[in-house]
Amino acid sequence: MPSRPYLLLSCATSADGYLDDASPRRLILSGPADLDRVDEVRAGCDAILVGAQTIRTDDPRLLIRDPRRRARRAARGLPPHPARVTLTATGDLDPAARFFAPGALRLVYCATPALARARTRLEDSAVLIDAGDPLSLDFMLTDLAERAGPRALVEGGARVLGDFLAAGLADELHLAVAPFFVADPAAPRFSLPRPDNTTSPMTLAGVSRFGEVALLRYLLGPGGPDHRFLRWAVELSRLCPPSATAFSVGAVVVGEDGEVLATGFSREQEDHDHAEEVALRKLRSSLGPDPRLRHATLYSSLVPCGARASRPVTCVQHIVAAGIPRVVFAWREPTLFTDGEGAEQLLAAGVAVTEVPELAERARAVNAHLVGSGA
Ligand SMILES: NC(=O)c1ccc[n+]([C@@H]2O[C@H](COP(=O)([O-])OP(=O)(O)OC[C@H]3O[C@@H](n4cnc5c(N)ncnc54)[C@H](OP(=O)(O)O)[C@@H]3O)[C@@H](O)[C@H]2O)c1
Repeated sequence: MPSRPYLLLSCATSADGYLDDASPRRLILSGPADLDRVDEVRAGCDAILVGAQTIRTDDPRLLIRDPRRRARRAARGLPPHPARVTLTATGDLDPAARFFAPGALRLVYCATPALARARTRLEDSAVLIDAGDPLSLDFMLTDLAERAGPRALVEGGARVLGDFLAAGLADELHLAVAPFFVADPAAPRFSLPRPDNTTSPMTLAGVSRFGEVALLRYLLGPGGPDHRFLRWAVELSRLCPPSATAFSVGAVVVGEDGEVLATGFSREQEDHDHAEEVALRKLRSSLGPDPRLRHATLYSSLVPCGARASRPVTCVQHIVAAGIPRVVFAWREPTLFTDGEGAEQLLAAGVAVTEVPELAERARAVNAHLVGSGA
């Protein structure tokens, strides 16, 4: 398992960047379409984290609303709702808050000096974890990956979002921008201690609309765009329907200008689908392959297959036929099902190949049921 979860930050702001207004009542920034999108994002995560102040002011439920999404989680062997997680330096939490309602694992990471107070207040409403003095975000994330799983969603508030961003621990940011202004300096907004990310800006991976709300989707984290898109491909591999005879792989195709052209994961549409094949199928029309592919990069968590038992055309052949000039991958295929040398075949066909071994363990861990948990 990776030592810390993939961390996705999600929040809604006004057009002038506020996360709430200054009134005691919660400001609703999202519309129904955006709330449904958040429900989908939640359903793909193992844990949802909010700061203690958000529990006090907003009293969120942090549940998956759509029963079909809960059923999909059940089919993947996951609990119906992600774990609910918070962090506190004071232990000042009310066990009557909806966060502590049954139905999901509840984890409270507490700074050491406040442990006794938190234990008295919460009794057995949650699992209470000593996270050090001062509370260590690194410890918290490592422990969270072990207890809840490899993918966590942070839903605010202002301080928590700022803490994770400032510590460089976020992998993805979903910023939903509502079509109005708050214009009140007393209202909360991201609290970041003088960020210096102009030299390494976030990577814009998507712009979309949900009703009147604009969603900006950014990738963050070390390594620049190549590593970020590849980490995303690994995350897509977690969505694969399980198989005892085929790898779980994710793929992202990115155009010359950075636009994400398509994504895919193994078995996404049909039983024998490979991730790269699905992504390329989405870009095929009656006129043939999308011409943007001639300048695109394909990111795949596993090296594209150069030999294949399930279908006659390998992913290397699909990539070469589409005219894709560059492939970036994380993990070299172990000789488990086939012994195809995908990277060598791509190079021989004139495709530039970049291997990112630093991310191989993440890609391999998703397939631990096939290749064991050791390196
Ligand atoms: N628009 C959105 O998407 C969105 C989402 C969520 C929340 N919000 C809004 O955000 C506001 C709340 O934000 P906020 O900044 O006041 O609070 P917050 O980030 O929700 O919670 C801050 C609290 O979390 C604990 N905490 C955070 N980082 C910690 C650390 N490194 N170590 C120890 N404890 C830590 C502390 O709890 P203790 O005080 O217990 O020590 C701290 O006071 C509300 O107005 C809410 O409506 C907006």
